[in-house]
Amino acid sequence: MMTLPKLEDLSDPDFNPFEIEKLSTGHCPDPYPRIHELMQQGSVVTGSYRDEFTDIKDVQRDGVPQVMVLGYEAVMHVLTHPEIFTNREAFMPSLGQAFGESVSVMDAPDHTRYRKIFQKAFLPQVVSKWGETVVDPVVNNLMDAFIHTGKADLVHQFTHHYPFQVIYAQVELEPEQAPVFHKLAIAQLLSAIGAPQGAEATEKLGLFFGQLLKLRRENPGTDLVSHLATVEADGERLPDIVLISFLRQLMNAGGDTTFRGTSALLMGLLTNTDQLDAVRADRSLIPQAIDEALRWEGPVSSTYRYAICDTEIDGVKIPKGTFINLVLASANRDPRKFANPDSFDIFRERKFRSAAFASGPHLCIGQHLAKVEMTRALNALLDKLPNMRLDPDMPPPHMIGHILRSPEHLWVKFDS
Ligand code: HEM
Repeated sequence: MMTLPKLEDLSDPDFNPFEIEKLSTGHCPDPYPRIHELMQQGSVVTGSYRDEFTDIKDVQRDGVPQVMVLGYEAVMHVLTHPEIFTNREAFMPSLGQAFGESVSVMDAPDHTRYRKIFQKAFLPQVVSKWGETVVDPVVNNLMDAFIHTGKADLVHQFTHHYPFQVIYAQVELEPEQAPVFHKLAIAQLLSAIGAPQGAEATEKLGLFFGQLLKLRRENPGTDLVSHLATVEADGERLPDIVLISFLRQLMNAGGDTTFRGTSALLMGLLTNTDQLDAVRADRSLIPQAIDEALRWEGPVSSTYRYAICDTEIDGVKIPKGTFINLVLASANRDPRKFANPDSFDIFRERKFRSAAFASGPHLCIGQHLAKVEMTRALNALLDKLPNMRLDPDMPPPHMIGHILRSPEHLWVKFDS
């Protein structure tokens, strides 16, 4: 049995990044009335999305000219014109510092090359196999802890854990290392608010993944790191630095988003019991329920790009050097594309794909995996928690957050 490398904790082991993370996520209960007001002002509005909802300064963007791009057409225009609106300049000071050379901070031609290889690793036929081998054991294990109690807080006892545990299982992390791993993964992002623990976490995770990668290259197994280390496209493999940066990003890109997306799905169904009953009776409705949840409360409300040349959107001139706040949530709630956009309706007419996974060259690599995870989780909850319903003795759920959103609690009862 090979000995896995040991992950080193922050030098101040009592430092709690989760509290500070909340500050950068925000406490806004409902950004949508303001998003609708902004959308009415036009496709391009001067200012930063973050400044609309929080007083906490983004140290990396101080003094940079910023606009918000709003509405479905304008958002899609930016996402699908990477030759004008680039990722590198937009994300290098934030995600670049946190993760390194991840695909999120690349533009063509590097992005095209490496993305092709990652995409092969996350094809639908590859990830569907992980449903049974990786996702189901995690989901069942978590449910075993509360299945006989007749009630649970599905956020604290289920959704907040399962996508992260799927990642631990995929990299075959030793269980005792999981708390430090989670802490460092969150702490990496603190560079954005100027906390020194950000760089420390980035370095320590990089060291750990570097050693792990070396071990897996020498002795490949069936885990995700071995898979990524050997997958190739056009005869090319991923360089170590790109692979390590991807692994650093995985907890946030794949764990946090899927946790929030699953919570939104459950909240949408539990607060619309006719739709919950319909899905319970007919599981073929699950894909459209997932699509609707991610449109209605997409976990990623806003992302960023940078204009590398003078351009214009919807007749508004955008000078070279402008930082673009791309409000994905405004695309998903655009009444010109989605009737009654603020309501959760799994039966709505679906003529347009939502922007929940973005679009264009940076379209989410993990979307098939996220859907496999969410489908497995929902099926298991419906199968094993008969008559699952909101707990009438506890406060009803409400969403919170302006950039990343999810409910804080989902208290349910079920027949045990
Ligand atoms: C419900 C769950 C998820 C949501 C809502 C989501 C959303 C997104 C969005 C909006 C982007 C594009 C960001 C941009 O262009 O600025 C993205 C990119 C990405 N996602 Fe996801 N994601 C989810 C799950 C996952 C999972 C499970 C993985 C694990 C592999 C993953 C890995 C990535 C990566 C690596 C990128 C960067 C792709 C690139 O730049 O080419 N995501 N995701």
